Parts: sequence; structure tokens; C-alpha cells
Amino acid sequence: MISSPDPNSVFSEDIIEQTLDPENWEDLKSLGHQMLDDMFDFLQNVRERPVWQPVPAEVKQKLKAPLPLAAEAAGDVYEEFKELILPYPTGNIHPRFWGWVMGTGSPYAMLADMLASGMNSHVAGYDQSAAYVEEQVIRWLAELLGFPATSSGVLASGGTVANLLGLAVARNVKAGFDVRAEGLQQPAVTRAELVVYCSTETHSWAQKAVELMGLGDKSLKRISVDALYKINLAELEETIRRDKAQGKNPICVIGNAGTVNTGAIDDLEGLARICRQEGLWFHVDGAIGALVKLTPSQAGLVSGLELADSLAFDLHKWLYMPYEAGCILVRDRTAHQSAFSITPSYLTALNRGIAAQPLEFAARGVDLSRSFKALKIWFSLKVHGIDLFGQLIEQNIRQAAYLKQLIEQEHLLELLAPVELSIVCFRFNPSSQESLDAQLLDRLNQEILLRLQESGKAVPSGTRIQGRFAIRVAITNHRSRKEDFELLCQLVVNYGQELLADSKFLEEGNG
Ligand SMILES: Cc1ncc(COP(=O)(O)O)c(C=O)c1O
Repeated sequence: MISSPDPNSVFSEDIIEQTLDPENWEDLKSLGHQMLDDMFDFLQNVRERPVWQPVPAEVKQKLKAPLPLAAEAAGDVYEEFKELILPYPTGNIHPRFWGWVMGTGSPYAMLADMLASGMNSHVAGYDQSAAYVEEQVIRWLAELLGFPATSSGVLASGGTVANLLGLAVARNVKAGFDVRAEGLQQPAVTRAELVVYCSTETHSWAQKAVELMGLGDKSLKRISVDALYKINLAELEETIRRDKAQGKNPICVIGNAGTVNTGAIDDLEGLARICRQEGLWFHVDGAIGALVKLTPSQAGLVSGLELADSLAFDLHKWLYMPYEAGCILVRDRTAHQSAFSITPSYLTALNRGIAAQPLEFAARGVDLSRSFKALKIWFSLKVHGIDLFGQLIEQNIRQAAYLKQLIEQEHLLELLAPVELSIVCFRFNPSSQESLDAQLLDRLNQEILLRLQESGKAVPSGTRIQGRFAIRVAITNHRSRKEDFELLCQLVVNYGQELLADSKFLEEGNG
């Protein structure tokens, strides 16, 4: 018989044990149902609202309110959310949002995220449903992308982290010494310099990754691209051979399945062959393009993807999942775990109980505490079926081809890069009528882009293509329709002509 201690030694009489659960569950239910209804309306009517609107100064000011010391009524806090937060999103749920490469999200996935949040599973591993769901989702994705059933994978916050994980495995396998134990602190004279290769069009995650991994930006060799913005294979081979001859240690080639600027797809089969010949790790950044593999007629665009040693891709882009959902697949399961696995006594698997399963997911990346990202993917793939996703991706590719045609037909518009996937770079250019200097054209197109965004009518983003400012449309949006692109072209022409007739705007550039 355990004798009870005197409760007053710890709990004085006036201390009440607290909880974050509501006093009245019925009130919570009614608020929750209201929130759900409001959010469904918000999604259903998204087309009627501006794509984006700036956050007004007074709203920004209100969002600097002091730390809330006292409790406020949940209904009041929700009203504040509706007033200060809900009206000012990035806009990427809107049918005419095509900026950067942002996905739209979906109503069912939103519901699944709510369920996941309610379960609040800690998905490091453990003997629990969430871990088996993630394992199943990884298996499905591997199958869809042509990876072997034995490959390994893990969901990550996004493409940046998923790519970083792939590169970390590459470094571990190919360094030629125990990087985990010894690090990269040895003087360069005793150890060959590790080198990673990619095209000049590769997304900036690669620089972040080599810097974070201690290799330094100078270890990342940018190989030039051809007229289609694809990596030059001959230059790559030549550079690898020269580096080897100079005593360097080439470890990895990064191929692009969809570059961020123009959507170009490198010759992945060619890259796989070079990596095999030279003994390098082949990593593919498929953040944008990998899921084209799901389409009935366009899968061939990314052939060679399945030959990668590691493949990173985003489900919050072209699978339209709500943020965050990236994924890394690694062909060699052991290599994957060898890069990250650590088992201190407090995380060791036991032969029964919750910890009967090792912490598989923690051993495949850097996160130990992980949310249940797999549920929204599992739910969506089941509710909609794979075929619909393939058709939607194909629809976006078709819309990009249509936009390209609209641009080519309009003499005031100029296409600035080939259109391979669903990224279209173009500009307003009335040069056929009168010759405008390059600086004015850049200024004109930047102003057109800003007016588009500030009008709330359409949101492309900007980039530079061969030094020229481009309006860039990246279509990973299941709500866009053909007429949205017709409107976009009309708006660009209208704003362009307005600006050309505006002597103040034209003079500003001369000042
Ligand atoms: C080609 C490419 N790779 C990687 C990334 C980074 O992905 P994330 O934004 O999910 O970190 C992006 C983002 O747009 C991208 O376009």
C-alpha cells in the first residue's frame, strides 16, 4: 500500500489544477462549426475576391499589440482573426495566382490537416497509425515515381529541406571518409576537396545546402545551360574529369526536373549515365516537375527521374497539398539511415509498447519532433484518386501552352523563354512600333507586374531571363481556367499601353 503524501506539501488549498480544454465543450463545438462553415465559404467564394491586397497600415499596427496577459473570449479572438488576418493572405488559393511556385491547397486536405492537428501525433516513428500512414504514403509516392519498393523516404517541410537531406546522404556516401565522425575540419592538404555539380539554373536551395553542410559555396560548380536552359552535358563531363585530374573529389551531380526560372528539365538520362560512369551520386531536384510523372501524356518529359539515387519533390506545389509537404526518396535505404541515424538510450526501441518500432523517420532526416504531414496526402489521394491529380497537372501544362499561344499571337507581347512545363516568362514589348531601350523595357514590365499584383486581378511574379525583366507565370493551380489567362494578357497589354501614354512615367526613367 502506497502511503499518500500530504497534498498540502505541494498543492496549497487555493491551487486549482488547470487545463487548456474548454469549460464548455458545446460552446467550443458551436465556434468550431462556425469556423468550418466560414472557411468553406472562404474557399468557395475565392474567385470573387481580389487575389491579393496589401495589409493596411492600421492592421499592421494592430498586429503589434502587446503580449496578451489576460484571457480573451474565444469568439472575440475569432472575430479579430476575421478582421485582421483572414483578408490578407499571400493569395495562392486564388485561381489567378501564379507567382513563384506556390500550390493552391484543397478543401479535403484542409480537413485532413485539422484531423491531424487534433490527433497531434508525434511522428518520429513509434508503433502508431501515423507512422504506418507515412510509410504507406512514401511507398505510394515511390511507386508513382518509378522508385523501387525497397527505397526509403521521408516527408519534410518543403523542397529546400528535402533537397538538403538528399545532398547530405550523397556527401555521407561519397566523401570517402567518415564525414559524420570526422567532419570537414581537416586541413585541405590532407583531404581532397568535395565537389557538387549543378546547372546555373539550379534553385538557391543548393547554395544553402553546401554552405550548411560545411562544404562552402565554392564547392558547388555551376555548369552552363543550352538555349533551352538545360545543363550542358559535355561541359559537365569535362569539368568532372578536370577536377579529378586536379585531385578533387567530385561527389554528386544535381539534375533539375523543372528549373525555377523557366521549368526546364535537364537531360536526366544523360546525367544518370555520367554519374554511373564517374561514380557520382545522382540527385534530382524535382520540387516542381517530378509529379509530371503522374500524367497520362507528359510523363516522358521527366524520364530518367527514376534513375536518381535521391529525388526531392514538393507535394505543396504540384499535388496541391496545403503547406507544408515536401518529400525525399532515397534508393538505398541503408545509405539514407546511415546519414542521420542516432540512437541515444532515451530513444532506443524496446521489444514491446509504443517504442517497439524504432524512430524510423527521425533516422531519415534532421527533425525528431515531426507533425502528421502524411494524413492530408493519404486522404487526398484516396478521396480524389491518382488519375485526377495527373489530369490536373496536365491541365496546367495545357494552360501554359495556351498562354504561350496567346502571347505569340499578340504583337505587343514577347515570350522570353521556351515553355516546357507550366512556367511562362514573357514581357510587354511594343518594339515593333518604336524602339524602346532595354532599361525602359525593364522598368515598364516591372511596373506592369506591380500594377497587376496591386490591382488584385492577377499575381504573377518577376525574374530576369538573360538580363531582361520578365513577368513569370508558374501554374500549379487547380482553380485556374482558360479565361484567366486571356484576362492576364489583356491586363498586361492595357497596363503597358497606359504606361506608354504616361509622360510622367516615361520621364521618371530619364531623371
Ligand atoms: C526548383 C525548385 N527547387 C526547390 C525549391 C524550394 O522548395 P521549397 O520552397 O518547398 O523549400 C523550389 C521552390 O520554388 C523550386 O522551384
